[in-house]
Amino acid sequence: GDVRLWGGRFADGPSEALEQLSASVHFDWRLAPYDIAGSRAHARVLHTAGLLTGDELERMLAGLDQLAADVRSGAFVGTVADEDVHTALERGLLERLGPDLGGKLRAGRSRNDQVATLFRMYLREHARVIGGLLADLQATLADLAEAHPDVAMPGRTHLQHAQPVLFGHHVLAHAQALARDVERLRQWDERTAVSPYGSGALAGSSLGLDPEAVARDLGFEGRSAANSIDGTAARDFAAEFAFVTAMIGVDLSRLAEEVILWNTKEFSFVTLHDAFSTGSSIMPQKKNPDIAELARGKSGRLIGNLTGLLATLKALPLAYNRDLQEDKEPVFDSCDQLEMLLSAFAGMMATLTVNRQRMAELAPAGFSLATDVAEWLVKRGVPFRVAHELAGECVRVCESTGVELDELSDEQFAAISPLLTPQVREVLTVSGALAARDGRGGTAPVAVARQLAEFRTDLERQ
Ligand code: ARG
Repeated sequence: GDVRLWGGRFADGPSEALEQLSASVHFDWRLAPYDIAGSRAHARVLHTAGLLTGDELERMLAGLDQLAADVRSGAFVGTVADEDVHTALERGLLERLGPDLGGKLRAGRSRNDQVATLFRMYLREHARVIGGLLADLQATLADLAEAHPDVAMPGRTHLQHAQPVLFGHHVLAHAQALARDVERLRQWDERTAVSPYGSGALAGSSLGLDPEAVARDLGFEGRSAANSIDGTAARDFAAEFAFVTAMIGVDLSRLAEEVILWNTKEFSFVTLHDAFSTGSSIMPQKKNPDIAELARGKSGRLIGNLTGLLATLKALPLAYNRDLQEDKEPVFDSCDQLEMLLSAFAGMMATLTVNRQRMAELAPAGFSLATDVAEWLVKRGVPFRVAHELAGECVRVCESTGVELDELSDEQFAAISPLLTPQVREVLTVSGALAARDGRGGTAPVAVARQLAEFRTDLERQ
């Protein structure tokens, strides 16, 4: 028979072209378990409102359990003719309970409030999955920092040598960004924990149903939509989710880009584990950082999902429009891609080896201690403007004679300024430069150890 939920006023069935265009079962089928949970909750409020007898409720719930089991086992699947997951599951229920009882569940609800609720449920669950994967990656980065408490590296601005930093400090900088992403997911979840069920098609229901009871049943802590039009039309929760996942992608891509650079022959800061690298089909010697490159690439895709969804939403009149069916694929894709990526990414970071010698060797290169010379002069009462000039002069002499700052002779220093006594050498070591920056947020080993402890405490609480 006709499975459509809206056949009554139509003399003809849908054209095949319409059916093809309109079908969403192939991507919204993943909402099936949530749809069935929604149906259970809806059956209960129908019963409370006196629209299902106790016996009918029991048979309805048993039928839904059977349907859920058949969906899980694959014995029941939606088809193109079903249009969407909601229609398919209604067919499944009718097949199991017969039209008299099965046909009662639709009272007081619409696919519009259903889908808005299920979409929230799905994304809330995946926000938790993604948050968990991010926590794993953060812990991996914390371990990496902790395992290298004394490794210096060249810190960069403009990708040029700037000042030496502790490797762990740099790694934790990425971890801090990821912690904010997790916080974004948590704050998003708080805002999204509102159930649109009971909004009906757009105007609510005349049947005296209790939307807050449904909201309690479906994990929304009893919060239901304050406005039925907004309940069915709002998709800012989906757009914000797409933003947060895009932001995570961008944060991962920044770390990925560094891993790619560090793994080059020229940098040689890290070596990736074989299990997390790939080879070349033609060049036998190659070992490529594909996970990091895919992270960089997929961030583009995650950004695309966000901008595509925003473009769909732009200027849509209230309330529901069929355009909104286009809201799910981009966000589902963001979940799928990110969940896949995060697992691989954590593995890559957990197994890479750090070439501490190479990093330490390059840490003072490029006159990265020039700032320390200037600050040493400042501590002796020299105005920073002058100190900056004198330290710059030191760099100029080094460059013209092809030596590093610590290779200038006492005479060369004195010739630049009598203020530059041999004691300036105290600050011309990487370890001295690092240790001096021991305030909160600084790169001194003691400060980084404090940061790490604080980070771990926050990670536990997260
Ligand atoms: N499958 C649709 C969606 O995902 C829900 C169906 C609502 N259809 C309708 N004609 N009101 O948005």
